[in-house]
Amino acid sequence: MRRTVKDFRHAKGQRLVYLTAYDYPTARLAESAGVDAILVGDSLGMVVLGYPSTVPVTLEEMLHHTKAARRGAPDTFLVADLPYLSYATLDRALASAERLMKEGGADAVKLEGGEEVAGIVLGLTRAGVPVLGHVGLTPQTASQLGGYRLQGKRPEEAERILRGALALEEAGAYGVVLEMVPTGLAKEVTERLSVHTVGIGAGPYTDAQVLVFHDVVGLYGEFKPRFVKRYLEGGRLFHEALSEYVREVREGVFPGEDHSF
Ligand code: KIV
Repeated sequence: MRRTVKDFRHAKGQRLVYLTAYDYPTARLAESAGVDAILVGDSLGMVVLGYPSTVPVTLEEMLHHTKAARRGAPDTFLVADLPYLSYATLDRALASAERLMKEGGADAVKLEGGEEVAGIVLGLTRAGVPVLGHVGLTPQTASQLGGYRLQGKRPEEAERILRGALALEEAGAYGVVLEMVPTGLAKEVTERLSVHTVGIGAGPYTDAQVLVFHDVVGLYGEFKPRFVKRYLEGGRLFHEALSEYVREVREGVFPGEDHSF
């Protein structure tokens, strides 16, 4: 049965599992593996669409992939990312969330930022939109943070991240993603919040974990952050399978009798 926002909000210490999925087959796989939630992350811009960052991702692209993921995982709680600038004002945020939830079938939306987006989060949650926050490394504004690097090492950075997470909770977010922050900081934020935290590169003490599907199965070779664990060398296996197909066609091995009428 599909979980609800209520199952996640105060799920402290439950070690819930989020996984990204962006299309029908990966969402089906995620659902059959028993994940607690699917995130249609704007990371799809990099791992599926080949953009250099998440910035170019449009709301139409998010919608297209959210619909496909929902078709693949009808029984799994699904969060869709609000792409860059689609929540720059409350009106835009409401309109974007409306499309992802009504047309895309998302159960909640995620947006990036701390205190600076708390007003938008408040407007969304007051309107009844479940919101997952995201602090630490925020890829949509990574360039302002000095690139894809650990956040919150310096005390003032750590303080800003903690204040951001508390502001998101206060604004009604049902949870907060902590990306690429030191383990100790993630633990402290997790202890200070009553809503659940979702870690990625944040160590073992967050209430949930999330990883990018293509990282887990080794299908994104461009960049492998230290926090990623590859459970499969999918890129190599796919390459071997496809090379064999190419060879067999060229050598007249495929199609053989078994695959012919
Ligand atoms: O876009 C995404 O996949 C994300 C996760 C990495 C948290 O934001």
